[in-house]
Amino acid sequence: MSDVLIEVKNVKKYYRKGKKTLKALDQVNIEVWDNEILGVVGESGCGKSTLGRCMMNLIQPTEGTITLNGKDIFTLSKTELKEIRKKIQMVFQNPFSSFNPKYTIRKNLSMVARFYGMNSAETSRRLEELLEVISLDKSVLGRMPTELSGGQLQRLAIARALISRPEIIIADEPVSALDVSVQAQILNLLLDLKSNYHQTMVFISHDLPVVEHICDRVVVMYLGSVMEMGTVDDLFSNTAHPYTMALLAAKPRENPDVVKEEAQLQGDVPNALNMPSGCKFHTRCPRAKEGLCDCEVPALKEIAQGHVAACHLV
Ligand SMILES: Nc1ncnc2c1ncn2[C@@H]1O[C@H](COP(=O)(O)OP(=O)(O)OP(=O)(O)O)[C@@H](O)[C@H]1O
Ligand SMILES: [Mg+2]
Repeated sequence: MSDVLIEVKNVKKYYRKGKKTLKALDQVNIEVWDNEILGVVGESGCGKSTLGRCMMNLIQPTEGTITLNGKDIFTLSKTELKEIRKKIQMVFQNPFSSFNPKYTIRKNLSMVARFYGMNSAETSRRLEELLEVISLDKSVLGRMPTELSGGQLQRLAIARALISRPEIIIADEPVSALDVSVQAQILNLLLDLKSNYHQTMVFISHDLPVVEHICDRVVVMYLGSVMEMGTVDDLFSNTAHPYTMALLAAKPRENPDVVKEEAQLQGDVPNALNMPSGCKFHTRCPRAKEGLCDCEVPALKEIAQGHVAACHLV
């Protein structure tokens, strides 16, 4: 097995809403392996960004632990925290709001480099290196963010994330705000980072074809829980969970025969403040069995090596 960089163990993130509790993450267990692109998919509100923010130590879980190279990221001294910030970086969905519009790109990026302790010569060298990595001309450094396209800005957001030579980049829907024509370029850049620079990534997305294209393994989440997890090959060709089948059925695919007709996703995601009993997916599941799926929470079961699913009927 590959080296584990991040381990998310029994993580819960709860929010109080009046007298009720919203379980944004509900007992999540995930590993991020060295030099992989781990996809996290699921419908809106299933907890993808919450998971990313917890891994970044931007928010603290209600319960559970997250370790980077075996070290708990929530029990660190100030100095250790700064080190962790170097090692885990994030790229967000909207590149237009990720730069200060009052400053040039050079100033935007230099401020980050300074924060990580680089002097001005080191900063200039690093920015030059990174412009080559992201295939943009040096002249962009003198431009204002408002003068650049979404694709150029997202490349620069990726460069900014790379300044500190992070071990992991968490990319939260990094292409969903971009034109389709530009999306492929950004995805190819991420794939290059993995193969040429040994970059490990967590790729959060609701777009399954994109996930299939660039990820090595995938975690499928529903209402704060992991429903299925495995390699892209396993998950897309030996799909085990009815929820994953339903997600796949909802997307245009090269080989539609793989997904059974019964798998069409029905109805809306239930209110997160009123979670269904038993299997959270049973209210929309075409296979749900009364007396079982509505009563008992299914545990994650290993159905093949490294491929797990939380379904009573698998
Ligand atoms: N700070 C917060 N306070 C209260 N509830 C929150 C907070 N942050 C997230 N939530 C709730 O937690 C759940 C998970 O939210 P999250 O943003 O992680 O979902 P997501 O999978 O990233 O969705 P999307 O695909 O829309 O980005 C949602 O029900 C959301 O409303
Ligand atoms: Mg999100």
